[in-house]
Parts: sequence; structure tokens; C-alpha cells
Amino acid sequence: MNNDATTSGLTFDIQLSHHRKTPEERAQLLENPGFGQVFTDHMVTIRYTEGQGWHDAKLEPYGPLTLDPATSALHYAQEIFEGLKAYRHSDGSLVSFRPEANAARLNRSAERMAMPALPEDLFMRSIELLLEHDGAWVPDKDDFSLYLRPFMISTDVGLGVNHPSRTYLYLLIASPVGSYFSGGVKPVTVWLSKDYTRAAPGGTGAAKFAGNYAASFLAQSQAVEQGCDQVVWLDAREHRWVEEMGGMNLWFVFGSGENAKLRTPPLTGTLLPGITRDALLTLAPDLGLPVEEEPLSVEEWRRAAESGEMTEVFACGTAAVVTPVGHVKSDDGAFTIGDGEPGPVTMRVREELVGLQTGKRADKYGWLTSF
Ligand SMILES: Cc1ncc(COP(=O)(O)O)c(C=O)c1O
Repeated sequence: MNNDATTSGLTFDIQLSHHRKTPEERAQLLENPGFGQVFTDHMVTIRYTEGQGWHDAKLEPYGPLTLDPATSALHYAQEIFEGLKAYRHSDGSLVSFRPEANAARLNRSAERMAMPALPEDLFMRSIELLLEHDGAWVPDKDDFSLYLRPFMISTDVGLGVNHPSRTYLYLLIASPVGSYFSGGVKPVTVWLSKDYTRAAPGGTGAAKFAGNYAASFLAQSQAVEQGCDQVVWLDAREHRWVEEMGGMNLWFVFGSGENAKLRTPPLTGTLLPGITRDALLTLAPDLGLPVEEEPLSVEEWRRAAESGEMTEVFACGTAAVVTPVGHVKSDDGAFTIGDGEPGPVTMRVREELVGLQTGKRADKYGWLTSF
């Protein structure tokens, strides 16, 4: 064990794993890691106690946690998380896309869930430290990256539910990943969920809160039963306004060629404010694609797709990058977007975004952080 430089007044203890994978074992795991199945050798943990603040910062071997069965996170779901990726650029450097935006969103989620904020320098240091020790796990193949999963759980022991926990644990784990959807860039088919809602006004939809995802699994299973890949969420009040898709924000392309323009639903408080969505709001106009943040109803979606006015639909997010939507199904029947194949606007936006993230395009917006 040795000590490390301080951050926010904290010293990280470095406890290196005695069971690190050998370069050969790692290379084999990196061949075909899937998504979120393989984990690196270490994790970062930092504890919080009311009155004391953040303390006990460590880099330690990746491994199981020991939790009392009465730990509050297991009963009352005070759990928030983030998702971002580290890329290996062609010069070998390790780079992440807008990590400060993830730090800020983690803290907005924390505020909504009555959890403590994590200082941004601790968030950044946790990534830096993990990459310092597990950087060899960042793949160097196209479409592969190291998915970083920072998260925070409440750790008070006891079943009282009158107040939030007074103690918390922040962790950072990392998983080398390939494409989120197997088979590369191919259009997904989506199911419009009218039986279930993801988020209601005043609820937790804008937070990256674990319970939002627990509540989504049944609708996702229903989508799969209907032969679809993903569920699309509609607003809770009218089941009419399109909100987002699974773990991604949605974009609609109207017109084509020089007349193409983009629309994405506005952030009403029930959608997750995606960092990729935010990046596209800047990036698309620079590609000559005007954007508007305006609501889209299910009726307009169908009508515009059937008339040909709407030419493409795609979803965006850290995990799935930019994914075309080819077909839409609901209780009211099905319709196809364009010819059901990935469209030129979708592929152009995808190429620009991936180009920026992977260093093939200049970082003109200052979105990259090297670690
Ligand atoms: C519900 C939901 N919407 C949208 C997104 C896309 O967000 P981002 O672009 O920050 O990954 C995610 C993924 O984080 C999500 O879970």
C-alpha cells in the first residue's frame, strides 16, 4: 500500500490487486467483451458520513461488497449512477468525452435523491486513478471503449424511512465494451409503451436514479414480446407526447438533403438530460442541420413518417452512440421510418460524433479530457 496525492483534502490509499489479469488473459477478454460483462482489476471507493464529509478514499481490487442486510440502499433505493466512456486515441492517449458534464449530472441526481454532492475534483480524480492503474483495459479497436460506471449508494443500516441515509458510498467501476446493440449500426424497432410510464411531473425522471430503470424492465420485456428492441416512453399525463427511448434520447429528421432539420423533445423534467443529446444540439447546426427542441405527439410521428415528411429517426446516448430507428410498433399498429434503413443524416451525425470522441476529428468544442 502507498499513498497518493490529495484531492479535496483527501488522500487516496492505493491497494493493488494481487490477482490482476495477465496481459494474455486481458487480451482474450478484450476480444469480445460484450457490454458490461467484463470488469477491470480495480475499483475506486469513497465514503461519506454526515458531519464529516467525504473520507476513506481508496483504489482497491475489484470485488464484492459486504453489506448489512438492513443497508438502506437495498430497501429504499437511494442509488444514483453515471455512464461515460474512455477511448484510446491513435497516439495511445486515454481520453474521455465531457466527464465534467457527468460529474455535474451526478450531483443534480444526488440533489433530487437527497444525497450528498461529490466534489467534481474527486469525481475526476477517481477516473484518473482508475485509468492510471487499469488503463491497459481501454481497447484500441474501432467501436470499442472502456465504459466507466460511477455510482453512489446509501449505506445507513436500519429500516427507518423518516429521513435519508446519513452515510454513503461512492464507487467507480469500469468495463471494456464493444457495441451496445450487437450487429453494428442497424436500425432498431421500437414499441410505444401505453401501459406503463417511466416518469411523471415532480418525479425522478431527470435523475439518473436506479429506480427509474427498475421500473422500466417490465415495459422493456413487453417491447421484446412484441418483437421490438426498445421501448419508447410517452408522457405520463396524456400518453401522447414522445419523451425518450430506453436509455437514449430521440431525434426526428424532417426533410432531406439541404432541407433536412432535426427535432428533439424538450427537457420537461421527466426526461434524462443526455450529455450526447446536449452535444448534438451544438454539433448538428455546425453540420448545417438546424435543430429545434419541440414536443412531438404520437399522431404527428405516424402522420409525418407516413407522408414522408419525416425521413429518419435516431436515438443517442453514451452506450449506443447514435442508433437508427427503423420501425415503430404500438397497439394502434406499425409504421416504418423512411425505407427502414439507416439514413444519411443519422450516419453523418454518428460519424461526426464518433470522430470527435475518438480523436479522428479536431476537438473544436473542447469536449475531450485526457487522463
Ligand atoms: C433514460 C436515459 N435517457 C437518455 C440517456 C442518454 O444520456 P447520455 O447521452 O448522457 O448517455 C440515458 C443514458 O445515460 C438514459 O439512461
